[in-house]
Amino acid sequence: MSEAQIIDGKSLAFKLKAEIAEKVSAHSLKPNLAVVLVGNDEASLIYDRNKQKAAQAIGMDCLIYHLEESVSERELLELVSQLNNDDRVNGILVQLPLPAHLNPLHVLTQISPEKDVDGFNPYNVGLLQANSPQAFVPATPKGILYMLKQIYPDLSGKNAVVIGRSNIVGKPMAALLLNQNCTVTVVHSKTKKIEDITRQADIVIAACGKPNIVKADWVKEGAFVVDVGINRIGGKICGDVDFDAVRQKAAYITPVPGGVGPMTIAMLLANTYEAFIRQNHLKF
Ligand code: GUN
Repeated sequence: MSEAQIIDGKSLAFKLKAEIAEKVSAHSLKPNLAVVLVGNDEASLIYDRNKQKAAQAIGMDCLIYHLEESVSERELLELVSQLNNDDRVNGILVQLPLPAHLNPLHVLTQISPEKDVDGFNPYNVGLLQANSPQAFVPATPKGILYMLKQIYPDLSGKNAVVIGRSNIVGKPMAALLLNQNCTVTVVHSKTKKIEDITRQADIVIAACGKPNIVKADWVKEGAFVVDVGINRIGGKICGDVDFDAVRQKAAYITPVPGGVGPMTIAMLLANTYEAFIRQNHLKF
């Protein structure tokens, strides 16, 4: 068995961003994304700066609203409401995780569903569950689906196992795959004998935040393995998949870095462009 083909998220994302940039340049108005960041979590600061740079690079406006760690829920909701009512703003993203005193559901529920480019408002969560084309789909699972479709345009009947049940990745990923007629199993920290389940899978999505947990004997020969993990060990970034070992067993694998991460940003920009088009009653 030869080594798995590496799915290059960086170059796919580059192509997607170029396509969006071209569409953006056809309008006199610029799509506008508002990013709300509370506190000084280092990873979140880096992510949000990267989102801003990527948006600006394709001709969008993007402002980061950086609030103090100690901001009250009332003040944060006030900002969200102001952004909801600002016609110049097309997309609103509140970076997660929020500090412990702020309830993410209170905040996400207040984001106007039309501007909810993260797809985390329960209204959009519901639309995704209902397989509605109107749903804003969370960027990470949307990017993963795009990568899977490069290899399997028709995912119907595939056995997919999602490791992790977060609201940001695991749950929306499972819904998207189910909507594609996959047979979907979600496993998590309380699941018994995870490896017995992942070994049955044609597609494994590792999104549990545990460095290198997915070993070669967890995956079936010829599987498509997607690594969502971004773990820092001693200054080095690694994923949830033991890449070198799993590469000998799988047929397709996404690297960390350069896999899911860049696709997430590209899909956030795609959602922002779509929000802009919908709000201006233009054709997508
Ligand atoms: N934290 C980790 N991933 C994400 C994401 O996709 N969006 C937001 N808002 N916060 C995150």
